[in-house]
Amino acid sequence: MSLIHDLSRADITAPAELPVRCMDCGTTLSATRPLTQCPECGGLLDAVIDTSRRIDPASFGLGLPRNLAESGVWRYRSLLPAIPDEAIVSRGEGRTPTYWDERIARFAGVAAMGLKHEGQNPTASFKDRGMTVAISHARAIGARFVACASTGNTSASLASYAAAADIPALVVIPKGKISGGKLSQTIAHGALVVQIEGDFDAALALLRQVALDYERYGVYLVNSVNPFRPEGQKTIVFELLEGLDWEVPDVIALPGGNLGNTAAFGKALTELYETGLIARIPRLATIQADGAAPFAAYFESGWDRYAPVEAETIATAIKIGNPASTARAMRAIIATGGVVTAVSDDEIMEAKATIDRAGIGCEPASAASLAGVRTLVARSEIDPGETVVGILTGHVLKDTDAVISYHLGDDAREQRPHGNRPISIPASLDALESVLSEHAV
Ligand code: F0G
Repeated sequence: MSLIHDLSRADITAPAELPVRCMDCGTTLSATRPLTQCPECGGLLDAVIDTSRRIDPASFGLGLPRNLAESGVWRYRSLLPAIPDEAIVSRGEGRTPTYWDERIARFAGVAAMGLKHEGQNPTASFKDRGMTVAISHARAIGARFVACASTGNTSASLASYAAAADIPALVVIPKGKISGGKLSQTIAHGALVVQIEGDFDAALALLRQVALDYERYGVYLVNSVNPFRPEGQKTIVFELLEGLDWEVPDVIALPGGNLGNTAAFGKALTELYETGLIARIPRLATIQADGAAPFAAYFESGWDRYAPVEAETIATAIKIGNPASTARAMRAIIATGGVVTAVSDDEIMEAKATIDRAGIGCEPASAASLAGVRTLVARSEIDPGETVVGILTGHVLKDTDAVISYHLGDDAREQRPHGNRPISIPASLDALESVLSEHAV
């Protein structure tokens, strides 16, 4: 695949029509300018996709330029917004594997469980799928600045794709709360990084204000409130189900933070059903961390009481107290007959250690998927005979501090079932021999 981008914008024709619709008041507009909320009522906007025609599953990827056919996002072009080819900035995202490992299924308590590894994207998280669409749209409309608030992965992805597109990027992050790996990626790719004395929710609230006055600030917001980000995230579901020959699993489990992904999965499943590609809709299971679980509490209340929280969890990627896509995600859970729950940091870290030990690896937030399935099986909300797929959202190297403290912390060896502390010895054969005999199998 060609990764060389033609940076001249001269031959990009502004898209004639990119319909987006407000989920609250139904206003429909064409996104030929930056739009991240409904100008009429402030509601969230959805890209409008024509699902009235039947889609032949064998048609995906056909008739596209090679670099688009080879992208695990753009091959599903017929179910994505009509952004002109020449505006598209792709890094060959997607095409991620699904691992089926007995040890994972046993830990979860089900007969079969797959883990689709979105950490195997270009910047090592699932964010690249939405980012290629959002940045391509930014390019199509000639955005001056692209921006996001982030717990780390969105900023790394934005910095990379904005650099590839040669559009200046602004990132606002909570100071001292982003893992070193994610911050390094963001800095290395040249984004303007602004650290605030505040949390993710405060960072996003600030940028949402700035985004409202594009004439003044020139800032196009690409967090998942942007209607084009979820469009790319939908392809996780498309690719997963295509890999299963459109035979749907019973449950798809994923971690929930700002809830863009939950919203996108719901939209993807509804569209696949409407176009006749799938015969039934699997249940979504969104898993939050106990200390950052306003959506789980909202679900528990029967969608009666929503209250933002001050978030705290070891899974820094999902440390979010007031998810921006709550309304859309609620729609997704209802449409799929889904479920929302929360798990403790200890449960997350045990699930992560199990995934890591199986040779797969992921960052802490991702492991909420597996921890949540185990909890739902224990509560009889998932039947042990059901087929489950969990989404791993980020790579194991995204948060090495979490690995080190799990395995090398003071109580690691004794208390952690998978604790694996390195052994220090003198550089002698005797010493190595005694280690080998102690660990003989
Ligand atoms: N897993 C990882 C590794 C994440 O980075 C995120 C979100 C999520 C799960 C939750 O996804 O927000 O769609 O519910 N990270 C965002 C960021 C907030 O800034 O990188 P969600």
